[in-house]
Amino acid sequence: MTTATPLGALSVFGTTFQNPILLAAGTAGFGRELARVVDLDRLGGLITKAVSPEPRSGNAAPRVAEFWGGMLNAIGLANPGLDHVANVELPWLAAHLRQARVLVNVAGSAVEDYVTVIRRLASVAVVTGFELNVSCPNTEKGGEEFGANPTVLADLVRRCRSSTEKPLIVKLAPTLADVASTAAGAVDAGADGFSLVNTFPGTLYRISRSDRNQFEPRLGYGRGGVSGPALLPVGVLATRLVRERTGKPVIGMGGIRTFDDVEQYLLAGASLVAVGTAALADPRVPERLVLAWGRRG
Ligand SMILES: Cc1cc2nc3c(=O)[nH]c(=O)nc-3n(C[C@H](O)[C@H](O)[C@H](O)COP(=O)(O)O)c2cc1C
Repeated sequence: MTTATPLGALSVFGTTFQNPILLAAGTAGFGRELARVVDLDRLGGLITKAVSPEPRSGNAAPRVAEFWGGMLNAIGLANPGLDHVANVELPWLAAHLRQARVLVNVAGSAVEDYVTVIRRLASVAVVTGFELNVSCPNTEKGGEEFGANPTVLADLVRRCRSSTEKPLIVKLAPTLADVASTAAGAVDAGADGFSLVNTFPGTLYRISRSDRNQFEPRLGYGRGGVSGPALLPVGVLATRLVRERTGKPVIGMGGIRTFDDVEQYLLAGASLVAVGTAALADPRVPERLVLAWGRRG
């Protein structure tokens, strides 16, 4: 399933990753935004921001809030839409990346939306595979509800499967009662692997210092998803459970900041890992992890 080559590169999802360090969806845009501060082509790869058929403006501001355990976000899958991604973002990635792989994160408010995005992008050479976001806690329609219902999820994966031969990686929520069974159902429907985990639903209030009875949610959407250090053990356990049950490759994510964190996921059975919140705070974190991977004993 996952084989290490003599050079330390990895063979996963039918392709080669020069190292296991990826950028997590939604935290690196489409790469262009980071190109001045990160040498993208040194990474294992990049998972794009969510792509939906039509452009989405996303949720009301503020969309992010920090707290001691990481951050909360409710971006609402804001993205420029399929046409722009196909005509501008993917050609840019194709022109600038030689080694790093590109996975496209797909989102929608109906099953048909996922199929539309995949059909259009399936033949684009720079796209290695698709990450199906069926676990976003910050949308009115779609998102989490696709991944939480096994029948809906199986239908979604089956329909995506019939639209491409490229790898389909299902991104699941950390809130599922039985993540391993959900994953097993997705494998039966044609999933090639999993991204674990998406953010955990949460909220925090801004409280008036002068009147403690006055408060309002810190996010414009009223609630959001928790990411960063608080997610680390949650993601590591989900990785272990899904890997043990399905044997399929897992991209481990949630709370990775240091190479010790990367090792936690690898020990739990992840084939690849992705960094989100830590790279928002310090864009050089992913390259540091690549260096640490190269130096590992
Ligand atoms: C600002 C922000 C935007 C995100 N956008 C997406 C997205 O578009 N699609 C998706 O599947 N996950 C999205 N995520 C979730 C991340 O890809 C990742 O699963 C999660 O943040 C856990 O990793 P981390 O703790 O390293 O941030 C987003 C996370 C953040 C913080």
